[in-house]
Order: sequence, then structure tokens, then C-alpha cells
Amino acid sequence: MKAGLQALLPVWNPVRLESSSGVVLPESSNILLVGGDSTQLDWVRRSYPNSQLLEVDPASSVDIIEKKLADRSFDQLLWVAPDVTAEAGRQSEGHELIIEQQEEGVLTVFRIIKALQRLGYATRKLQWTIVTSRTQRVTEVEPIQPAHAGIVGLVGSLAKEYPHWDLRLLDLDSLASLSARECLSLPWDKQGDGLAHRRGEWYRQGLALMATLPEATPAYRQNGVYVVIGGAGGVGEVWSRFMIEHYQANIVWIGRREYNAAIEEKINALSRLGPAPLYISADATDLAALERVRRTVLEIYPAIHGVVHSAIVLRDQSLSRMDESAFRASLSAKVDVSVNMDRVFGNEKLDFMLFFSSIISVVKSPGQSNYAAGCTFKDSFAHKLQQHRAYPVKIMNWGYWGNVGVVADESYNRIMRQMGIGSIEPHEGMASLEVLVGSEMHQLALMKTLNSQVIAGLNLSEAITYYPKTAPTVLPQIGRALAAQASV
Ligand SMILES: NC(=O)c1ccc[n+]([C@@H]2O[C@H](COP(=O)([O-])OP(=O)(O)OC[C@H]3O[C@@H](n4cnc5c(N)ncnc54)[C@H](OP(=O)(O)O)[C@@H]3O)[C@@H](O)[C@H]2O)c1
Repeated sequence: MKAGLQALLPVWNPVRLESSSGVVLPESSNILLVGGDSTQLDWVRRSYPNSQLLEVDPASSVDIIEKKLADRSFDQLLWVAPDVTAEAGRQSEGHELIIEQQEEGVLTVFRIIKALQRLGYATRKLQWTIVTSRTQRVTEVEPIQPAHAGIVGLVGSLAKEYPHWDLRLLDLDSLASLSARECLSLPWDKQGDGLAHRRGEWYRQGLALMATLPEATPAYRQNGVYVVIGGAGGVGEVWSRFMIEHYQANIVWIGRREYNAAIEEKINALSRLGPAPLYISADATDLAALERVRRTVLEIYPAIHGVVHSAIVLRDQSLSRMDESAFRASLSAKVDVSVNMDRVFGNEKLDFMLFFSSIISVVKSPGQSNYAAGCTFKDSFAHKLQQHRAYPVKIMNWGYWGNVGVVADESYNRIMRQMGIGSIEPHEGMASLEVLVGSEMHQLALMKTLNSQVIAGLNLSEAITYYPKTAPTVLPQIGRALAAQASV
């Protein structure tokens, strides 16, 4: 495979899990269900009668969890997300409370990790299974529950930072579809990647290389009005430039900082190409502030045609050093901003809604658990919107941009070069993005590779040369090829 710009499609491949490759756990094992309820405990006890419940409510601090855990002995830990239902077929709730639900989900898991660190598990072995429900869009039509999708990113980074921990992450339809014994006999995953169980089959996420991009029809309109949250940042500015240059777009930038000389300079440069962007200072994690922005925009322009989420707060740190405020800062730039963006602009008659996410959603790097959690949430939330909104909702999982944006400096460039990763440049990024927005694709991951080893390291599914009209996330021919090879 050639080095260069790679267009990758996140897919879910069916896998056959050989029982011999799994883990045999004696029936007498003491599984400690951390923070679950009695229905979940009943489910575990049907397979492992000695299992115990450790009550942890969403308000429990690290101190409290630490004290409770210190008093318990256990063979393995189990954490089950609160929205994993006992029966099959129950529909998920709406997403009104999704920001608040982070407390009982990814933030509780974060605090459990901190408590385990304090109890000395950072250097000891630990076996821990984490169960979520329907956070992933495995097949086209299934219901999606994005509330706890951030856990997928957190666990992926955690596994790489704690290689001596055995972790498995399972995303189920419901507890009714499997026994605890079946779940706790599955192999551990050293990358912290999840397995999804849908209607009796297991799936694993992969990336398919797209040999060619599909046909696209123009999705951007001339003189359209577009709101870009984080627009004054690197990639947001590149998109704005492209839209002003080619479509004479009216761009509104939203950022937290006050208007300053650097923003003015960017606006002046762009105003030579077409309409000058309008900058509005607002924190998009604040719903009321974002609502005020919408009203202001609609006092100036008759309509809003598109909205882009290009906000990020990068606070890279290992989990052993990261405190909760750093975790929250990165997470809320994705969770709160995505949810508020939909609440405020979702009911406008948009041509599209666009989420700038990252390839970190798939790679889940060590030292980026907060950002990875934010990105896996963002993807899942956008997938849910795709099912409910009348207009296209698109996800671009960007790879590394080396010349603009939050990580455009020489030290990052050097590290990336060593890893065989090059910088996405504006013209190529914008060309691929325009195809994504104007085609049947829901999602695209884009990265620049400098050598073929990088691609080999990505464990790609086979290359695909077409994109089916119905846009399934599971591509059957890839699935068959992988199922034949799978030896997990
Ligand atoms: N650069 C890359 O290599 C790369 C790779 C993968 C994905 N991405 C994605 O691409 C997007 C843009 O990244 P970038 O590199 O352009 O980052 P950037 O230069 O840091 O721009 C992001 C902007 O977001 C704004 N922002 C953060 N929190 C906000 C909030 N609560 N409300 C309003 N604005 C907020 C920041 O402005 P204030 O500080 O003024 O609020 C900043 O200007 C992000 O979604 C990122 O995840 C980038």
C-alpha cells in the first residue's frame, strides 16, 4: 500500500470468538460489581453466586470509593453502565440529561481508576470487565445510546497506560442477550478495544481503506451562513477560508476568548477573499450563552445553513497524573459542546451538521484518555443525530495536522514523523471533507502516512473501492473476510 493521504472508513466486522481462546473463570469466583444495582447483581450471581455489590453512587468522591474498595477482597471487578437494561428490546431514553449522565458514567469510571491507583493497583495486576450498551453504531438501524460512549475512549487509553491490567470492554444489546459467564469468559484486550454484541453476533471495530472516495454532489451553498464553534482555531480557520474563497460564505466564529488582535488579523486576512467572518465570544459549554449566539446570528442573517463543531481543549497527561478537572476540561469541550450545539441549532433548517473528531476515537492513545473519551462520545452522539435529523450529520475523524491547529509545532511534527505520520494539508483535507459532506458517507477518517509500515500497523480490513448507497457500517464482504481469519 502506498504512503500518502489515506481515507479510512470505521467499520464493524463480525468476529467468531473461539471458546478455547477465552478465559476460564471458576464458578466460585468473587466478582465485585462496582456501583451497579440489584438487577445487575442478580445477572452476575446467576453465573457466579459469590459475587458482591459495592455501592457507589454518582456523587461518590475518589476518597469514598477508595475507602469502600479497600475493605473488599475480590477476584475480578465488573462495572456495568447504568443504562444497560436487563431485558431485551427496551428503548433508550432521550438525550436531555446526557451531560448530567457523565457523572454516573465516564466520570465514575475515572474516579474508580483514581481510587485503584491510590490502593496501589498502578503496579499490581487487576482484572476488570466494563459493560456498556449500544454506545456504538454497529448496524445501520439499531438504536444508539451515546451517554456512556466516552467510556470507550477512556478504557482504550487506560489499557495502553496499564498493560499489566487485564481489561475487556463489551457493548451489549442488553444483559438478557448473554450470561455473565459468557461475558467473563471472553479474551482480555490489551489495546482496550471493545467488542460489540448485536442480535447474537460479536463484532470488532476496524478501519477499511477506501481505494477511491465515492461520488459527491455539492453540499455547500453560495453565500450560505455557517456557525463554526472553535472557528478561530486552526482547522476551523482552514475550513472558513475554503468556504469564503469558494462559496463566499458568511462565517460566524464562536470561541471563549475575548476578541483580540490575533483574531482580528485572521478576520482581516479572510476578508480579502470574501465576506469577513463575524466573531462572537461565548463558551459553548454554556447552553444559555450559545442560545444567545443563535439569536444574535439570526438578527444579522435570515437563516443558518450549517453548524460545525471544531472545539477542542487538549490537556494530555497520563491517567496517573491527571486530576478530574483536566479530565473534565477535555471531555466537556466534546460532550457539553456537542449536546449544546444540537440543542441550540439542531432544530434549524440546516443543510448539514459537521463534527470534527479525531482518529484518536479509533487509536485511543495513551496519555490522551480525556480527549479519547470526548471523541468516542462525539462520534456516538453524532451517529445518533444522523438517525434523527432530517439533514446530513457528518463526522470527520481527522488525523494529524502539522501546520495549523492545536498541535502544530516542531516537537509534535518530529514525534509524528518518527511514527511515520505526516501532516494533512489544507487543500487535501478540504477536498476530502467536501466529498464526505456531499456523499452518502456518514463518517470518514483521514490521515497522512509517510511509509507503508504505518498502514500495516493499523490492522486494516481489506481495501474497498465503492461505497454502498445504503451506507451500512458493517460491510458484508469485509466482515466475511475477517471472520474467516479471526482467531481472537
Ligand atoms: N489539529 C489536529 O491535528 C487535529 C487532529 C484531529 C482532530 N482535530 C479536531 O479538529 C478540531 C479543531 O482542532 P484545532 O487543531 O483547530 O484546534 P484549535 O486550534 O485549538 O482550535 C479549537 C478552538 O476551539 C475553541 N474552543 C474550545 N473550547 C471551546 C468552548 N467551550 N466554546 C467555544 N470555543 C471553544 C478554542 O478557542 P477558545 O480557547 O477561545 O475557546 C479554539 O480556538 C477539533 O475538534 C479537534 O478535535 C484536530
